[in-house]
Amino acid sequence: MQMQLLSSPFTIFKLLILTLLLQVIPTLTLSPCKTTCGSIPINYPFGLEDGCGAPQFRHMLNCSTDLFFQTPSGSYKVQSIDYDKKTMVIYDPSMSTCSILQPHHDFQMTDVQSAIIPPSQDTVFVLLNCSIDSPVLNHYKYLCFNFAGHTCDELYGSCNAFRVFHLLTNSSPPCCFTSYSTVKFMSMNILDCTHYTSMFNTDNLKGVGPLDWVYGIKLSFSVPDTGCESCRKSGGTCGFDTDTEGLLCLCSSFANSTRECAAGSIISKGQNNAPWTHYLLVLLFVAYFFSLG
Ligand SMILES: *[C@@H]1O[C@H](CO)[C@@H](O)[C@H](O)[C@H]1NC(C)=O
Ligand SMILES: *[C@@H]1O[C@H](CO)[C@@H](O)[C@H](O)[C@H]1NC(C)=O
Ligand SMILES: *[C@@H]1O[C@H](CO)[C@@H](O)[C@H](O)[C@H]1NC(C)=O
Repeated sequence: MQMQLLSSPFTIFKLLILTLLLQVIPTLTLSPCKTTCGSIPINYPFGLEDGCGAPQFRHMLNCSTDLFFQTPSGSYKVQSIDYDKKTMVIYDPSMSTCSILQPHHDFQMTDVQSAIIPPSQDTVFVLLNCSIDSPVLNHYKYLCFNFAGHTCDELYGSCNAFRVFHLLTNSSPPCCFTSYSTVKFMSMNILDCTHYTSMFNTDNLKGVGPLDWVYGIKLSFSVPDTGCESCRKSGGTCGFDTDTEGLLCLCSSFANSTRECAAGSIISKGQNNAPWTHYLLVLLFVAYFFSLG
């Protein structure tokens, strides 16, 4: 009797540990796809592992040290993903901004990326220090637009990084406010501008100076309508077959289905694990009390 009383705190402690394990182990083995990268949630249509998410978005993300969006021109750090607004903000570390001047580097996406996750309408690209022979100053002049009344002079004047364009020539080399399609169809070499920058959330920037613009690229994605909802409601995760790219509802490490996870199946429903573990817990408690008596 005394031995048992002495050991009972340890038994309770063990039970607590066991309870925790029982709660954690099923969820670990049941979700075949990682749901976060650092602090950024990864949901459909995105996936980190091959076979997770929508096949159209395959190989676009990489979670090495941070979350990166991979394009033919490089890996861009993802700053945030907004699943309600369907936008992703990425940052090109080699892009110039108001505070840093860096040699240009094209921003290129694959055709699939341009179609399903292009830069948003309120993302503006600015081509800087263009030569007077640049196509956007001649034949393709119409590709440049008036950006809420802002001028090259203002940009070269208010940003430390761009002041150098003024200083060297003692005049104002041309710049061009344009949209992603310009950058998509013409490389920076063809455009004949030495630098570029881009900013987003550009609605209502009338009278707001370049120091207060938000630099980076906002992408706007579309979610393929493939019946993912019914899979998710059945407790599964939307994915695809890595060979055929046919859609799959990933139910557990042991079972995949083409549409949704089998109803009532313990291993297929993440949320339904609770009754099972509680049942086990009750059994353990009963065993514990019997051992005391
Ligand atoms: C389920 O699909 C995923 C992703 O394609 C695959 O990695 C896994 O092996 C499949 N599991 C079964 C049991 O078929
Ligand atoms: C992921 O992105 C990082 C950062 O650019 C890169 O160094 C790494 O090679 C990429 N990993 C894969 C598997 O593509
Ligand atoms: C601006 O462009 C000219 C060529 O048009 C180039 O010679 C000059 O180096 C550029 N300025 C900077 C700061 O890169």
